[in-house]
Amino acid sequence: MIISDRINEFTFSPIRKLTPFANDAKARGTKVYHLNIGQPDIKTPDEVYDYLRSIDPGIVAYGPSEGEPELIKAFAAYYHGIGLKDIQESDIMITTGGSEGLLFIFMVLCDPECEAVITEPFYTNVSSFAKMAQVTLRPVTSRIEDGFKLPPIKEFEKAITPKTRLIMLNSPNNPTGQIYTPHELKAILDLCVKHDLALVVDEVYREFCYDGKEFTSILAFDDYASRIICIDSISKRFSMCGARIGAIVSKNHEILSQCLKLGQARLCSPVLEQHAGIAAMRAPQSYIDDVKVQYEKRRDCLVSELQNIPGVRCCNPRGAFYLVADLPVDDAESFCIFMLRDFSYDGQTVMMAPASGFYINTELGKSQVRMAYVLNEKDICNAMNCLRKGLEAYPGTTR
Ligand SMILES: Cc1ncc(COP(=O)(O)O)c(C=O)c1O
Repeated sequence: MIISDRINEFTFSPIRKLTPFANDAKARGTKVYHLNIGQPDIKTPDEVYDYLRSIDPGIVAYGPSEGEPELIKAFAAYYHGIGLKDIQESDIMITTGGSEGLLFIFMVLCDPECEAVITEPFYTNVSSFAKMAQVTLRPVTSRIEDGFKLPPIKEFEKAITPKTRLIMLNSPNNPTGQIYTPHELKAILDLCVKHDLALVVDEVYREFCYDGKEFTSILAFDDYASRIICIDSISKRFSMCGARIGAIVSKNHEILSQCLKLGQARLCSPVLEQHAGIAAMRAPQSYIDDVKVQYEKRRDCLVSELQNIPGVRCCNPRGAFYLVADLPVDDAESFCIFMLRDFSYDGQTVMMAPASGFYINTELGKSQVRMAYVLNEKDICNAMNCLRKGLEAYPGTTR
């Protein structure tokens, strides 16, 4: 049987590809601290389980391809609640996670061979969505030595070619934790106007913005509304990653209407989970506020632990729940495998995601790892102790 050449262009996710090594370590009785994946350990709102216990749908029927009307209404009310008063229900299409939204947008805005400009490092699955749509990603590199801040606009301009259809940003950013300022967003929007491009901003971590800073959504830029597409999700906001519910939000109804063709092909997003999403949105604001406080504490804990490990470099993430750390190793992927396959300290080890998979230019992330601070502070401290001991034991340490 023949396997397609196309699929050989895809790679396994750097977030998950070391899982067999982690499973082997667990089978040997080693406790593995998972810093590799953005799977929060924070409890989903009680409202979700109250809803699930209360239902008896009789038939779990197909729902509308654009999403359950009450969920769309709940999303609109949520946007109004965060100050985005102009967002209407007609500006929202429900998707099967933010992931599907990203794929739909590539499919709708780009023909095969078209290009999208994106900051790297970026959320690694975007490269698979781009490949599915046969879109080439043109990276603009943000660097650890600059705190991963948005590269200068002229770097974006250099990456634009006649084939470019869109610029894609993610703020708060996975994996860097950067948040782009209103001034930076406006500069990118002006560039989009100049080159007649769409701006896609993935804001699935919108709530996770630290140090008392307010987050400015791209949806607040009314003057540019027709070229703005926002990707949203309840996965992280309500610790509901497995529910697979997200949204595409745009004032450009032509784009939404074209997305609906793809939505109709997949019939509908999971219906029970959409209703569970409505229930989640009834959770009190204190749920989000408490979660945010917890992540901020975890960030502080992780950063201070990393700063005490010789040879390790990282910057202070401003949002989301990830950071990229540069390690004193020859090759971060080999080191991550070593930590799972060959090393344990006190019966424990740590799993991290090698960062090269978050770059187009894989050399750039060769000594970097991405860590998700989704564990409690005690576990983070234990994990960092393992990291410290692992670096001492690893034969390829460079310091
Ligand atoms: C930046 C970013 N966008 C999108 C997603 C996917 O979100 P969803 O679970 O809604 O598909 C993730 C998941 O980690 C992410 O980090």
